[in-house]
Amino acid sequence: MAIRYEFIKACKQTGARLGRVHTPHGVIDTPTFMPVGTQATVKGMSPEELKTLGAQIILSNTYHLFLRPGHELVEQAGGLHKFMNWDRPILTDSGGFQVFSLSEMRKITEEGVQFRSHINGDRLSLTPESATHVQNALGADIMMAFDECPPYPAEYEYVKQSTQRTSRWAERCLQAHRRPHDQALFAIVQGGMHADLRKQSALDLTSLDFPGYAMGGLSVGEPKHMMYEMLEETVPLLPSDKPRYLMGVGSPDALIEGSIRGVDMFDCVLPTRIARNGALMTSQGRLVVRNAKYASDFGPLDPECDCYACRNYSRAYIRHLIKADEMFGLRLTTVHNLHFLVNLMANVREAIREDRLGDFRDQFFEAYGMAGN
Ligand code: GUN
Ligand code: ZN
Repeated sequence: MAIRYEFIKACKQTGARLGRVHTPHGVIDTPTFMPVGTQATVKGMSPEELKTLGAQIILSNTYHLFLRPGHELVEQAGGLHKFMNWDRPILTDSGGFQVFSLSEMRKITEEGVQFRSHINGDRLSLTPESATHVQNALGADIMMAFDECPPYPAEYEYVKQSTQRTSRWAERCLQAHRRPHDQALFAIVQGGMHADLRKQSALDLTSLDFPGYAMGGLSVGEPKHMMYEMLEETVPLLPSDKPRYLMGVGSPDALIEGSIRGVDMFDCVLPTRIARNGALMTSQGRLVVRNAKYASDFGPLDPECDCYACRNYSRAYIRHLIKADEMFGLRLTTVHNLHFLVNLMANVREAIREDRLGDFRDQFFEAYGMAGN
């Protein structure tokens, strides 16, 4: 087995769980947030900077690396870890999501997905087998089954057919997997916003005995309470001795609510994407440092933060850098937002250890400005 989940304890106040995932490239303390490095880089960050802010695992994308520079090249370089000089754990998403959100003229059949590259229009395809082999070549510690993420909203009958196909595809990924000894293949539970389809998906996939389970098709435009409901329907059906991963979720409130519902891993482009628009997550809520009101504000982005940006630079300076299109400004906002979420999860883990995650949630929401959310 490539990975092992070690359960440490459950929070007496909320039931959230504290654990560790042991991988070939080291240990991940859970619940955890994974920064996204789509193109084999977390935009603007060096691996040293990511380590300094506490990142223990990053996510990269099969779809993008398959298109460019190609998985054969990454394999030639000695695998993704070596290619990008990141020696901690990596998770690769399967492409089953990006192909739907990025490519043009896609056609889904039982066999897989045919599409045109969003880079040069090339006619390409991904199947459960090829997505698995591409991920075998990339060599991440954790890889994801090739799935379809149905849009929201979608017809019940469509979601049902799609979810059943995703389960058949998961079985094909398992069959095609060539490195189960050093790469863990996770299945992805789908089922849209339908409890019965989520349940069936979880039952079908858990019967195949994957080393970990993700919940996909969430945070696709549905109201938050609906996502939490789907988690409550799904998580109890997943094995307690394997990691659980909620895909594409990275708002601070959802990280806390997801942890309370038993999720161990999260990823999202949100912190890095909004950083490049000059938007920050702070202990007092969202802050847009581009705004004129910060022009002569010489305080840090977040007075409670001890990241590199907050220890050394002012809102006024970072605002100036962004207004002047200086790339250092975006590096500083990215450092801060990633530190904020990685540190939030460290605080969540400490609160679980001390059986007070419920109190932590209430205090956090009060300060962040989402009381009663
Ligand atoms: N990222 C966010 N949601 C999803 C999903 O449903 N499937 C995959 N493969 N990746 C995702
Ligand atoms: Zn900071």
